[in-house]
Amino acid sequence: MMDKVQQTINFVREELEGEGTGHDWWHIDRVTNTARRIAKQEGADLFICTMAALLHDLADEKLFESEEVGIKRVRDWLEAIEVVSEEKEQIITIIQTISYKGGNGPELTNLEAQVVQDADRLDAIGAIGIARCFTYAGSKGHVLHHPDLKPRTSITKEEYRGSAGTAINHFYEKLLKLKDLMNTKTGKMLAKQRHQYMKQFLDQFFYEWEGKK
Ligand code: ADP
Ligand code: NI
Repeated sequence: MMDKVQQTINFVREELEGEGTGHDWWHIDRVTNTARRIAKQEGADLFICTMAALLHDLADEKLFESEEVGIKRVRDWLEAIEVVSEEKEQIITIIQTISYKGGNGPELTNLEAQVVQDADRLDAIGAIGIARCFTYAGSKGHVLHHPDLKPRTSITKEEYRGSAGTAINHFYEKLLKLKDLMNTKTGKMLAKQRHQYMKQFLDQFFYEWEGKK
C-alpha cells in the first residue's frame, strides 16, 4: 500500500491541476520541500508539517466555493486515508490558521504551524515570489505599475482580495513585510536573502522605469 504522504501527493496534484493564479502543484511542491527542510532544522514533527504543507491551499476561498467546503474536503481526505484523530485535528488547525489574508491572521504558537507558514511565505518572496506576483497580477488584469497609485498602508481582507492593486504595489503592501513576519530562525535566515534579492529587483525596476540605467 502507498504511504499516506504519497497518497496525499497524488490527491493534491489532481485537485490543483491547471490552477492558473500561482497556486499550482509546483507551489505546493516547493512549500512542502521548504517546510521539510525547516522542520528538520527546528525539530518539528515531519509528518504533520509535510501533510499540512501538501494540503494547505485546499481550504483557500479563492480556489473553492468557501473555506468551509475546502476544510471539509481536507477532513474527508484525512479520514479516508485513516490519519489518526489527533494528527488529523492538528493538520486541519494548521491549515485554518496559516493563511495570510492581508496580514490580519492570528499569531501562531504551534511549532508545526509556524514552520508551514514560514515555508508558504518564503514562496511569496525572492525570485519565485517576484515571478508569482506578476503571474497573479496578470491573471487579475492588474497593471504592472502606475506612478500615481501609491501603496496602501493599511489593508483589510476585502481590499487585499480587491482589484485596485498594481503588481509593484504588492511588494510594498505585502512582500517586503514578510521578512519580519517569519516565525522560525531557519525561516528568518532564508527570508533575509530572498528579501535582499527583491529589493535589488525593485531598485533596478525603478532605474529602468525612470530611464536611468
Ligand atoms: P496566501 O495563500 O499565502 O494568502 P495569496 O493567495 O494571497 O497567498 O497569494 C498567492 C500568490 O499571489 C503570492 O505569491 C502572492 O504574493 C501573490 N498575490 C496575492 N495577491 C496579489 C496581488 N494583489 N498582486 C500581486 N500578487 C499577489
Ligand atoms: Ni500557499
